[in-house]
Amino acid sequence: MPTTKTASSPVDKFTFGLWTVGWQARDPFGDATRAALDPVEIVHRLAGLGAYGVTFHDDDLIPFGSDEAARNRHITRFREALAATGMKVPMATTNLFTHPVFKDGAFTSNDRSVRRFALRKVMQNLDLAAELGAETYVFWGGREGSEYDVAKDVRVALDRFREAMNTLTSYCKQRGYRLRFAIEPKPNEPRGDILLPTIGHALAFIQTLDHQEMVGLNPEVGHEQMAGLNFVHGIAQALWHQKLFHIDLNGQRGIKYDQDLVFGHGDLLSAFFLVDLLEGAGYDGPRHFDYKPSRTEDLDGVWASAAANMRTYRLLRERAAAFRRDPEVQAAMVAARLPELTQPTLAPGETLDTLRCDRSAYEEFDADRAAARGCAFVRLNQLALEHLLRAR
Ligand code: GCO
Ligand code: MN
Ligand code: MN
Repeated sequence: MPTTKTASSPVDKFTFGLWTVGWQARDPFGDATRAALDPVEIVHRLAGLGAYGVTFHDDDLIPFGSDEAARNRHITRFREALAATGMKVPMATTNLFTHPVFKDGAFTSNDRSVRRFALRKVMQNLDLAAELGAETYVFWGGREGSEYDVAKDVRVALDRFREAMNTLTSYCKQRGYRLRFAIEPKPNEPRGDILLPTIGHALAFIQTLDHQEMVGLNPEVGHEQMAGLNFVHGIAQALWHQKLFHIDLNGQRGIKYDQDLVFGHGDLLSAFFLVDLLEGAGYDGPRHFDYKPSRTEDLDGVWASAAANMRTYRLLRERAAAFRRDPEVQAAMVAARLPELTQPTLAPGETLDTLRCDRSAYEEFDADRAAARGCAFVRLNQLALEHLLRAR
C-alpha cells in the first residue's frame, strides 16, 4: 500500500526526544506558549502515533536537584509507560547546558570543580541509560566554547574534552555497559562558538581518543546547514568512516539560528537525498527527530508536527525508492558516468612505473576533448526533483 494511505509503525524506527514535543516554546524573547507535558503522556502519545521509542536528557525525566526518592518515582512511572506501550529507549544524553553552573561549559569549563561535577552527572545518567537498554549515549557540547577567543585556550580545552571522553568510555568498560558514544557537532548557539563545530572536526577529534571504536557521531541536519555545509555530504563521510552511530533529523532554512523545524520543512531536496542515502546505505539505527514544534502551535499542533516528521520521512523514502527503480534514472546515471567512479583509477596490479609509462594517460591524452564532454548532471537532478514532486 502506498505510504500516503498507511500509518507509521515501530518497524520504521522513529524516535523522539522527550524535550522535542515537550518543548514549552520559551525563546530568548518570549515566555512559554504551552504547558509542560508529563513524560508519561509523551510516551503514550508518541506510541499512539506509531513511534518506536523515546530518548531523554537526565533532567527531562528527573528534574535537576531531585532527591533519591523523587528520582526513583520518576523512573518508575517512566518504566511503567514504556512497559505499557512497548516503547524503547535507544538513546539517552545529559543536560550539561541549562543550569547556570554550566555557563562556561561542562567538560571544558575553566572551573575544574564544574568539570568534575559534569563527569559525575554523566556517570549517573549512564547508569540509568544502561539500565533502560539504551545503545547510544549522545554528547552535545552546547556550552563547550566561548564568546571571546581570549577566554578559552582551545588546545587545552580539547585536552580536557578528550580527558572527559576517555574517562567516560573507561567508566562504561569498567561497568560492562555496551553503550556507544555519539558526539553531536554544532557550530554555535548557545555559545558564540562551540568546540567540535562540524562533522569533520568531530571525526578528527575521535581519532585521538583511547577507545575510539566506542565513539562516533550524532549529526543534526540543521547544525551543519547553519554553517552552510552540505549535510548529505557530511553524512556520507560519516558513513564512510563507519561513524554514523545516530542521527538527529529536522529542518533548517539556511545560515541562521538553529530552527529545529519539522524534517523536510527546510531544504526539501537535501532531505530527499539524505533519505535516499540512509536507506541505500542500509543505516539501521533510529531515525531520531530532534525538532521543536513551532512556538505558534498549541498541543494539537504539537502532535500534528510529530506525525508530520514521520510521514515526511516515509514519503521521501517512497519517492527515493521510485527514483532508484526508474529505468530512465538508471540510464541517466550511466550517462552521468556515476558507475565509472566505482572503478579504481589504477588498473589491478598496476605499478607506479606502468602509470608513468602509459602514454595514453598523459602524453596522448586529449584533455580538450575530455573537457568538451558534458556531464549530464542537471538532467539527473531534474529527474530526482520530478520523482520528489510525484511528476513521474
Ligand atoms: C540543540 C541540540 C540538542 C541536542 C540534545 C541532545 O541544538 O539544541 O540539537 O537538541 O541534540 O541536547 O544532547
Ligand atoms: Mn538543533
Ligand atoms: Mn540535536
